[in-house]
Amino acid sequence: MDVGMRQTHSASAGVHLLLALTLIACNSQLLVQANSWWSLAMNPIQRPEMYIIGAQPLCSQLTGLSQGQKKLCQLYQDHMVYIGDGAKTGIKECQYQFRQRRWNCSTVDNTSVFGRVMHIGSREAAFTYAISAAGVVNAVSRACREGELSTCGCSRAARPRDLPRDWLWGGCGDNVNYGYRFAREFVDAREREKNYPKGSIDHARTLMNLQNNEAGRMAVYNLANVACKCHGVSGSCSLKTCWLQLADFRRVGEFLKEKYDSATAMRINRRGKLEQVNQRFNAPTSEDLVYIDPSPDYCLRNESTGSLGTHGRLCNKTSEGMDGCELMCCGRGYDQFKTYKHERCHCKFHWCCYVKCKRCTSLVDQFVCK
Ligand SMILES: *[C@@H]1O[C@H](CO)[C@@H](O)[C@H](O)[C@H]1NC(C)=O
Ligand SMILES: *[C@@H]1O[C@H](CO)[C@@H](O)[C@H](O)[C@H]1NC(C)=O
Ligand SMILES: *[C@@H]1O[C@H](CO)[C@@H](O)[C@H](O)[C@H]1NC(C)=O
Ligand SMILES: *[C@@H]1O[C@H](CO)[C@@H](O)[C@H](O)[C@H]1NC(C)=O
Repeated sequence: MDVGMRQTHSASAGVHLLLALTLIACNSQLLVQANSWWSLAMNPIQRPEMYIIGAQPLCSQLTGLSQGQKKLCQLYQDHMVYIGDGAKTGIKECQYQFRQRRWNCSTVDNTSVFGRVMHIGSREAAFTYAISAAGVVNAVSRACREGELSTCGCSRAARPRDLPRDWLWGGCGDNVNYGYRFAREFVDAREREKNYPKGSIDHARTLMNLQNNEAGRMAVYNLANVACKCHGVSGSCSLKTCWLQLADFRRVGEFLKEKYDSATAMRINRRGKLEQVNQRFNAPTSEDLVYIDPSPDYCLRNESTGSLGTHGRLCNKTSEGMDGCELMCCGRGYDQFKTYKHERCHCKFHWCCYVKCKRCTSLVDQFVCK
């Protein structure tokens, strides 16, 4: 692999190995039933002192990893915690972006069910692959900057050409280059080691996953931007230092959600390549999401597709969007509840400088799908 990383055993690598081991020790049950690296997201971060060093090395305990990922795990043990964090960030963002949709990304919570929903090469699977790959780029890039990894440090991105000449370039930036390359190696590893017959459905799915992983990584890469800080006599800002900084992950989520909305339906052709079902549209670029299967019905619970259905979901009686009761409940109707809502109110600004609020309680209507 050509990522210019090497294995070292620094003190920080040791700490993270311990950390990772702790997580695994406490969660072996979850990990055993999971068959994806996403399961790393299920590890709550705990302090290393709880862990008693056992005989089992870290990487062989992680049953969610493919063979290639296990090898990378051995080489980059200190990265594993950040891969888990990244996947978790991705899943959280997925749940935020889809909170008002019939499919609310909740199946991600349960890795075994999640596996089933993701078995279908739908738009939703496309988004999930992209956002979790993006989460890994994000977490690893930031960890490099924070000096948490033994094989990378601050970004060494070239000075942008359009940066004003008297601004300094070279604050410690997020290492998006490294994050991107590492995520490509790690996340794609399990797709690359599959060896399905060219042109088969499984091969199509592999190509789909690879494309969506890349789109997710590129989103983080492209949204990273220059950030600057002022120096100089009492806020005069006569001097500026600038560096490369990751975008807020919410922006990545919003960006990929738009890509989800404009995702392209694909099929595999005789040459073993994905091609558009509808050739009249522009071909997707490497930054676009693609899917090969129609989405399952998310209205009703269905064990075989893994759909949870929308029974019991909150909906908005007056909205005509996807969060409105009509669409959310798929025409089944809804029940109405009264519930108390607590919120901050009558806020006053006090000199200087704090805001004081009262707590107001009101009785509001809530609507829940039948
Ligand atoms: C996940 O879902 C399966 C099947 O619905 C269920 O048997 C299992 O208990 C769930 N696991 C967790 C951790 O919720
Ligand atoms: C579940 O989904 C499958 C595939 O779409 C469909 O064939 C089946 O009828 C569904 N089952 C139920 C109980 O809705
Ligand atoms: C998503 O919807 C299901 C029911 O369809 C519900 O059980 C779950 O709590 C929801 N998850 C989130 C994160 O809102
Ligand atoms: C329900 O939808 C309407 C119209 O889109 C919106 O104005 C309102 O704030 C929503 N209510 C809630 C509780 O989200």
